[in-house]
Amino acid sequence: MTTLIDLRSDTVSRPSDGMRQAMATAEVGDDVFGDDPTVIELEQRAARLIGKEAAVYVPSGTMANLVSVLTHTHPGEEILLGDQSHIFQYELGGAARLGGLITRTLTNNEDGSLEVAAISAAIRTENLHSPGSTLLCLENTHNRCGGAAIPAETIDELCAAAHEHGLRVHLDGARVFNAAAALGVPAARITRDCDSVSFCLSKGLGCPVGSLVCGPAEFIERARRNRKMLGGGMRQAGILAAAGLYAFEHNVERLAEDHTHARLLADGLRELGPFRPNHPQTNIVVADVVRGNLNDWLAALQREGVLAVAFGAQRIRLVTHINISREDVDDVLGRVQRAVGAVAV
Ligand SMILES: Cc1ncc(COP(=O)(O)O)c(C=O)c1O
Repeated sequence: MTTLIDLRSDTVSRPSDGMRQAMATAEVGDDVFGDDPTVIELEQRAARLIGKEAAVYVPSGTMANLVSVLTHTHPGEEILLGDQSHIFQYELGGAARLGGLITRTLTNNEDGSLEVAAISAAIRTENLHSPGSTLLCLENTHNRCGGAAIPAETIDELCAAAHEHGLRVHLDGARVFNAAAALGVPAARITRDCDSVSFCLSKGLGCPVGSLVCGPAEFIERARRNRKMLGGGMRQAGILAAAGLYAFEHNVERLAEDHTHARLLADGLRELGPFRPNHPQTNIVVADVVRGNLNDWLAALQREGVLAVAFGAQRIRLVTHINISREDVDDVLGRVQRAVGAVAV
């Protein structure tokens, strides 16, 4: 039987034996009472890595973004964000539904960035008729822009444009360590001018669950209350946090391997013909299907034991991760070649 090669996302990876061992032996307390030593250590280390004063551990990237947005804003205010951003595309309008916020989208450039001029033009000052714009949300790496790693200097400029008008900036850094690896700078350099940063342990870092929100100590204290309100206060969460501490030690340096694998995968797909893949900077391959129907391709790939997801009307996404080896990439390309024969083009 052919083994399944799962490239739907970097969230599908399984915790390694070493990580499971660290989880099994974690010292725990009750994190809502603030006395789980493993969670405390994870939060302190996360804050240091991102270059902020403090951090709070939350169950998911979606909750990390929502907690951040709620903590920065008041109902009735307006937030600016990219039209391709995860917060806008995939988080079910939580900012509007639970935060009472107007979400105003700006067109993302192909490299995941936004135009400074577009930010300045969109910002509204509060008056009798208009809501005030109070928050800009950025994303790095940028998922829908093919895992683009946005240079630190670009993030600096976008932050400056927002700060100049009194807006704060939240960075959805779900994959910020991938950005750091691709750009060859510490994550804290990328996040330097952002007021808050979220990042995920459950993606390239290979943990089963968990994200962190990082920012100034006073902000994180208020974020902790919003986490509790959303039901994200967990108890003996040290069992989960231990996976994060393990990942900081073992799974950050290796992210560059996933990027190499993604490049090899994209190069191979390009040669096969029916796909026009991006030139991935990180671990996300997005490929336009230029011949044949997207659903036929996904089905044919699945029959060959390769899992990918639809990422637009004629676009697929394949993501490399800690469980995908160089041999798997070659294997995937062989399977895709076999699938080529099965799809009417
Ligand atoms: C850029 C980005 N932000 C946030 C999230 C949300 O993370 P979670 O699935 O843990 O809620 C994702 C998930 O894929 C993501 O890609």
